Amino acid sequence: MSDPFYQLQWQLLVDPQLTARQVQIWIATLACRVPDIAGNKWLKLKYHIQQIQQHNKKGILSFGGAFSNHLVALAAAGKHFGFATVGIVRSHQADLHNPTLQRCTELGMQLKFVSPEQYRNRQHAEFVAELCTLYPDYLMVPEGGSSPLALPGLAEPPILQTPSGSASLISCATASGGTLAGLSAAHPTTAVLGISVVKDASLPDRIRQLVPVDAPQNWQLRQEQSQKPYGKFTPQTLQFCLDLTQQQIYTEPVYSGKALQSLVLWAQQGDFAPGSHIAFFHTGGLQGLAGLYYRGLINQQQYQQLQPQVNAADPAE
Ligand SMILES: Cc1ncc(COP(=O)(O)O)c(C=O)c1O
Repeated sequence: MSDPFYQLQWQLLVDPQLTARQVQIWIATLACRVPDIAGNKWLKLKYHIQQIQQHNKKGILSFGGAFSNHLVALAAAGKHFGFATVGIVRSHQADLHNPTLQRCTELGMQLKFVSPEQYRNRQHAEFVAELCTLYPDYLMVPEGGSSPLALPGLAEPPILQTPSGSASLISCATASGGTLAGLSAAHPTTAVLGISVVKDASLPDRIRQLVPVDAPQNWQLRQEQSQKPYGKFTPQTLQFCLDLTQQQIYTEPVYSGKALQSLVLWAQQGDFAPGSHIAFFHTGGLQGLAGLYYRGLINQQQYQQLQPQVNAADPAE
């Protein structure tokens, strides 16, 4: 199904070692009419939104960390399509100067802060019942938007059709698993490689629960190579992202940049057969750069270089 809400754009990653290995990595980016919902966000949210519209629900409640791309995307979708949004945020303190939470608030999202411990127990019946009482008539969507309703949206972009032929492998950054599950279910005869940017032993099981039981096991999960915990990155990963901007490829070092760096290293060391065409799905998340700058994890010059726009505004201004 074509969806005028976004456009699929392709870029070939140029690297002499990949050329020598006869491996192509094509980056598939979804430019969305509402930029805050770019990447995998719109695809995962689309059928949740359809569900609340069909059932006349007031809005969507979901969960995320203090710098969550998913919460910003949900807030932006609520503003654009006219439904209410609630974000349950894993944070001791309500820091509304944090650019992500500031953006969520500007977009009309109601935020509720819970301790990391309460957040860990977010699926406990007692907490769910409390949220249902506080926010009746909301569809509750898990962290990252990874519910079975996330899957059909991921089947829609023609991600297999790279400009130089059919992809032999699809790959993406993986955290809560919905994107990998959706791509795998949508392309049952193609290998799909999720590159985990989190250290979470329960992730394979959670993906198995999302993928339809009768679907072929065409997916594989591999830990990103830097071995850094979620949200942290090495100077090499940041440099990789900065270097990519010379090819007009814009990533951030927590999700897509970190995953793509692993993919390139594995390709350079010969893990993929000559002739491989890899479609790497860029899952968005560039809003997170402002949060990295806010926390001093990247400097102003790096922040500006990593933005697609030439003269990105300083979020502190
Ligand atoms: C930018 C970005 N990339 C990748 C992912 C991982 O996707 P998933 O949670 O569906 O595994 C996320 C989280 O949703 C994200 O925000």
